Amino acid sequence: MSDMRIGFNRPTLAGNELEYIRQSLERAHLSGDGAFTKRCHAWLERRLGAPQALLTHSCTAALEMAALLTDVGPGDEVIMPSFTFVSTANAFVLRGAVPVFVDIRPDTLNIDERLIEAAITPRTRAICVVHYAGVACDMDVIGAIAARHGLAVIEDAAQALMAAYRGRPLGTFGALSAFSFHETKNLISGEGGALVVNDPDLITRAEIIREKGTNRSRFLRGEVNKYTWVDVGSSYLPSDLLAAFLLAQFENAERLDAERHALWNAYHEALAPLEDRGLLRRPLIPAECRHNAHLYYVLARTAGERDALIAHLRTKGIQAPFHYVPLHSAPAGRRYARAMGALSVTTDLSARLLRLPMWYGLGAGAGQVVEAVQEFFRTAEARAAATTGHAASRALARHLARVRSASGEVFQAPPATPPETPHEAPPA
Ligand SMILES: Cc1ncc(COP(=O)(O)O)c(C=O)c1O
Repeated sequence: MSDMRIGFNRPTLAGNELEYIRQSLERAHLSGDGAFTKRCHAWLERRLGAPQALLTHSCTAALEMAALLTDVGPGDEVIMPSFTFVSTANAFVLRGAVPVFVDIRPDTLNIDERLIEAAITPRTRAICVVHYAGVACDMDVIGAIAARHGLAVIEDAAQALMAAYRGRPLGTFGALSAFSFHETKNLISGEGGALVVNDPDLITRAEIIREKGTNRSRFLRGEVNKYTWVDVGSSYLPSDLLAAFLLAQFENAERLDAERHALWNAYHEALAPLEDRGLLRRPLIPAECRHNAHLYYVLARTAGERDALIAHLRTKGIQAPFHYVPLHSAPAGRRYARAMGALSVTTDLSARLLRLPMWYGLGAGAGQVVEAVQEFFRTAEARAAATTGHAASRALARHLARVRSASGEVFQAPPATPPETPHEAPPA
C-alpha cells in the first residue's frame, strides 16, 4: 500500500547489518551455518537459556520441523487456537494430522486453557500454543494438562521473542518452539525463523532434519568422516547473509525493545479515555506476563465499526489492518481441521480487531494515528447524537401533533426515517 503515509510496518536497520553482510561476503561463506549463523545460535541460546537454537528460513519452517520431530502422523490430533496464522496448522496438516481448534480467552486472545482438556482424545499428540501479540498463554495450566495426558507442548512463539511468563522467556516452555524474524516482527531478517529445542533428546534429530535428513552437521564438526542420508528432512537452514543481518538486530535487541515499549505505552495511554467511555477495548496484559510490545491492537465494539475505523484511517493515509481470519472459517480449515464447539470468542474478537502502525522510528506518527482514531469516534458520536436528537424532535413533534389534532389543528408529523445527518458517515 504505497499510498499510505503511515504504513503498518516499516523494516529498519538497527546497526551493523550492512557491515556484517559485507564481512560475510569477504569470508566467502554465504550458504548456511557459517560464522554469523553460529553467533545467532549462541545469542538465542544465551538469551533464552535454551540448550539448542537453530536458525531456519522462516517460522513456518521451524513449525514444520517441530511437526516432524514430534512424529505426528495421519489421524493424530494437535490442539491449537483457530485465531492464528495458517502455518501453525499447516505444519501438522502436512504430516496428515488434524488440527483441533479450541476457542480463545477474551482477555489475551490466547488459547483458552480451560477448554483444552475437553478437546483431548486418544488421538491427541500435542498442544501447539500461540502467544498472541507477545503475551504469554497460561503455561502453568497448559504444562500441567500436557504432563497429565502425556502430550508434547510446542510453542508457536513467532511473535514472542523477548517476552516472558512468570519471568521465564517464552520459547522455553515447550519441548520445541518456533520464532519468526519476518520483517513484521520485533527483530528481523526479512524472512527468517528459529527452532528452539528445549528437549535435549531431540537435538541430534533436529540437526539432521534441518540438513536434508543428513548428518552433515556432525561431519562439519569433525565427528564423522563423511556425511550421509540418515533420516527424513529438508533444507531448512537460511543463508549466512541473512544471519549476518539478523545478528545486527540481535545486538540491538534491548534498545529496539525499549523503543517498541515506548510506542506501545504511548498508544495505550492516549487511547485510555476512549476505553473509559466504552468506545473501544485496549490490550489486556495479565500480571504474570512480560509482553514484548509486538502489536498494538484495539477491539472495536462491532465488526462494522472496526471496518469503518479501518476505512477512516485509510482516508487519513494510515494503514491499520485487521489480523487473522479464523482458520476454522477458512476453506482449508474446514477440510483439514476440526473445531471444538462454535469458537464464538474467536469469531467475535477477530472480527472486531485492528492493529495500529508499529515500527521503529514511527515517533510522532503515532500521535497522528491516535488523532485519527479520536476523530473517528468524535464523528461517530456526533452522528449518534444527531440521530438521537432527530428521534427526540420526532417524538416531540408526534406529541404536538396529537395535542393539536385533539384541538382540531392540522399538523404534519415528521417522516419515520431519520433525515441525512450533517455529518459524513465514515466510508465502509
Ligand atoms: C503465530 C504465527 N505463526 C507463524 C507465523 C509464520 O511466520 P513466518 O512468516 O516466519 O513463516 C506467523 C507469521 O506472522 C505467525 O503470526
